[in-house]
Amino acid sequence: EKGNHRHFMAKEIYEQPEVVGHTLTQYLDMVAGKVRLPFEAKFDWQALSRLSVSACGTAYYAGLTAKYWFEKLARLPVEIDVASEFRYREAPLPKDGLALFVSQSGETADTLACLRYARQEQQHVLSVVNVTTSTIARESDVVAPTLAGPEIGVASTKAFTCQLTTLACLALAAARARGAITAEDEARHVQNLIALPGLMAKALELEPQIEALARELSKARDVLYLGRGTSFPMALEGALKLKEISYIHAEGYPAGELKHGPIALIDEAMPVIVIAPHDALFEKTASNMQEVAARGGRIILITDARGAAECGITPEATIVMPDMDPLFAPIVYALPIQMIAYQTAVFMGKDVDQPRNLAKSVTVE
Ligand code: M6R
Repeated sequence: EKGNHRHFMAKEIYEQPEVVGHTLTQYLDMVAGKVRLPFEAKFDWQALSRLSVSACGTAYYAGLTAKYWFEKLARLPVEIDVASEFRYREAPLPKDGLALFVSQSGETADTLACLRYARQEQQHVLSVVNVTTSTIARESDVVAPTLAGPEIGVASTKAFTCQLTTLACLALAAARARGAITAEDEARHVQNLIALPGLMAKALELEPQIEALARELSKARDVLYLGRGTSFPMALEGALKLKEISYIHAEGYPAGELKHGPIALIDEAMPVIVIAPHDALFEKTASNMQEVAARGGRIILITDARGAAECGITPEATIVMPDMDPLFAPIVYALPIQMIAYQTAVFMGKDVDQPRNLAKSVTVE
């Protein structure tokens, strides 16, 4: 049921504060300010030399975001690849290693093939899945459920933010088990996680501004998305969402790669969506933005009040997000990114819930 919404995708975007909140209740002891996983980890986080992650599409971008968290918080090296590449690579895997799979449906053929390869190579298998009765869930040693509820829209929205939330909690659990963070750090991170649903609700209030922006974006032939650090996977996700449902060509790039090629594309017709909360990397991204502005590129900046004040240029539009700790900011910044794609596609009259050529779950290669 779509309720008051025009599309399942809109309903699912709006459900995010609630389902992320629900996911958090399953992974945190809110009173104690600690992570509490809803399963028994059958592997030893401390003994791991590496984590191997594979997934497809949006689930892959969730995994890519988690790489930053596992490496920063838990000091655990992460190798990540799209499942269709990993499955044929014959990658050597460490003895007693841990392989992590991320999938909404739990039925994606390439991801399942990677899981079976990992098993054959004697890896422990952990999967972050939304459908807990799925094949991937059944074939895993440990299942970390995402609790997003059924996702109907082909474009993943709430499953993505619930994957991110679950992965953030797993990274914190790994950090504690590996002695990489103090109890005070853990409590602070837990507080920041608890704040997410409220921040997401605030981000949803940006919809009218995004609707106006979408009219402009609908005229574009190509759109470039830029971000650094954890905003880089958000740039990839933003581009995928826009392509999937509006059919506008879009690309996501790490902001620092701009001058290694894509800057050649910049002209007055090219919208460039820059995702840049005011974090430790902000100044670097701001200087990339200035390079785009100097070449007449049309910048749409997604940042916070401080970033808006310190970006050093006048963007065509600035989406000002609420202030938050930067570490888990992608979980909130995903929302304007989804709304941009949604509003653009709706304005263009596209079938957002059933985009052409796509299936909700890709069970063939
Ligand atoms: O069910 P899965 O999470 O394994 O699906 C993976 C991708 O097919 C999926 O995320 C796809 O990219 C979505 N349509 C993105 O919106």
